[in-house]
Amino acid sequence: MQEKRIALVTGGNKGIGLEIVKSLARHDVIVLLGARKLEEGKSAAEGLGENVHPIQLDVTDQTSINAAADRIRQEFGRLDILMNNAGISRARAGGSFQEAVSTNLLSAAPLADIRTVFETNVFGVIAVTQAMLPLLRESPAGRIVLTASSGASMKLNSDPSNSHRNMFGNYSVSKTAAHAVTLAFALALESTNIKVNAACPGFTSTALNNFNGTRSVEEGAREPVRLALIGPEGPTGTFSDENGPVPW
Ligand SMILES: NC(=O)c1ccc[n+]([C@@H]2O[C@H](COP(=O)([O-])OP(=O)(O)OC[C@H]3O[C@@H](n4cnc5c(N)ncnc54)[C@H](OP(=O)(O)O)[C@@H]3O)[C@@H](O)[C@H]2O)c1
Repeated sequence: MQEKRIALVTGGNKGIGLEIVKSLARHDVIVLLGARKLEEGKSAAEGLGENVHPIQLDVTDQTSINAAADRIRQEFGRLDILMNNAGISRARAGGSFQEAVSTNLLSAAPLADIRTVFETNVFGVIAVTQAMLPLLRESPAGRIVLTASSGASMKLNSDPSNSHRNMFGNYSVSKTAAHAVTLAFALALESTNIKVNAACPGFTSTALNNFNGTRSVEEGAREPVRLALIGPEGPTGTFSDENGPVPW
């Protein structure tokens, strides 16, 4: 029986996910670094110490998700922390951040692109969470955290004085849906030891926004990691960033 906590981080090979992996490993958590391309997971895990183990995991591929769950069951028998971190901001690679923002608007985005983004950001979260739930139920204190986005807050975007709301397009709408999914899991699991929360990293410099973000990945990882490590007194069904609660 493994004494250390066991965590799975989806999209753990780069950006905020990789920093979450490093931070959890420093807290002596055994971290399964999820990567859709195993080779990239292996190189990301190099030098991170014995707590970090790469695992192939594409959140849009049920076979890959099931194989990851089977491996975690065989090796550890349970999962203590699920970080639903994998995400994409656009259906196709390339182009500038500004171009991506305008083609993201629902008035312009092709439906096929919207489905692609939802497949990763929304259905990926549901599929991975459902597959990992039996393992999380084996934990004395399961934790699920979504890397969420205050830019996807319906309340903040319905305020006309919010200058960023012209960016509320496909990506943001998918994150709004992911917030709802996270709250729904929190409510469904309210009577269990599993706590489910959403954490916004802030506008963080990563490939997702062509490195236009203003915060470092170290800053971005703080709130997701805090919520991954909360004790029994910690909240469930909340949405927050480093400054406190964020409206859904
Ligand atoms: N950066 C920000 O300002 C910001 C703000 C709010 C929320 N977030 C959220 O933070 C999370 C991490 O984003 P990031 O900024 O760190 O971006 P990133 O550097 O582009 O990292 C995204 C990660 O997700 C992975 N991924 C994408 N599709 C996947 C799939 N189908 N299966 C498994 N992994 C997949 C990527 O893998 P590959 O390397 O294979 O592409 C990568 O590891 C996302 O959920 C995003 O919505 C970011």
